[in-house]
Amino acid sequence: MTASFMEVLWSSIMEHNDLIEKATEYIKKIFAHDYSGHDAYHTLRVYRTAVTIAEQEHADLRIVQLAALLHDVDDIKLSPQTNQTKEHAVQFMKSNHVDQDVINAVITVIDEVSFAGNESLVPSTIEGACVQDADRLDAIGAIGIARAFSYGGSHNRAMYDPAIIPNTEMDKVQYYANVSTTVNHFYEKLLTLKDLMNTDAAKRIACRRDRYMREFLQEFQKEWDGER
Ligand code: ADP
Ligand code: NI
Repeated sequence: MTASFMEVLWSSIMEHNDLIEKATEYIKKIFAHDYSGHDAYHTLRVYRTAVTIAEQEHADLRIVQLAALLHDVDDIKLSPQTNQTKEHAVQFMKSNHVDQDVINAVITVIDEVSFAGNESLVPSTIEGACVQDADRLDAIGAIGIARAFSYGGSHNRAMYDPAIIPNTEMDKVQYYANVSTTVNHFYEKLLTLKDLMNTDAAKRIACRRDRYMREFLQEFQKEWDGER
């Protein structure tokens, strides 16, 4: 990973107006000590990918930018006490004088982004589609693999246990209560994401990342089985 990628990313964010800059500073503070796959760079990658998709889909960039930057600040796993109210996101926007109709649109996008077993939502707006796709793209491919094992480690999950079978038919309650292995998480969630992309731009990127994950799993299995 070259430093220049992040430099380009930071400077492209800084070129935008004050509000985006403030939101960036805000999420850097909120996610400063996260090692579960939700660090600030996750949000920044989602921001960048969501903007790329939004430009191709002619979505409202301002809504997409704010929603992408704020999509995880009230996440149910990271901040359960504010998940319902979206207090962090709302307070940030209110204190920065964002119009109420923009706040409402951003909160709708954030509400519709998250994946929860077979009860995930198809977003009701194109802006929601862009942010959901960008968030899901960050869960697959090389970075997706790294995030999954980092999440698994931080939640005391086994990397792999052939005795524990993946469960691909979980509803929302079962999904959150599920204690499984990180390799199972690929079958329970990550390998399903390619076909859940909303936009054509995201489908193209997802295809390549999905193929890479499948190769990784084959290689993993070969090594596990004691390849000679
Ligand atoms: P986000 O909110 O960014 O969509 P999640 O909160 O669902 O993502 O998960 C954050 C990261 O942790 C993702 O890369 C996801 O694949 C990974 N992750 C979530 N649950 C598990 C799990 N049970 N095992 C391994 N990785 C997981
Ligand atoms: Ni996210």
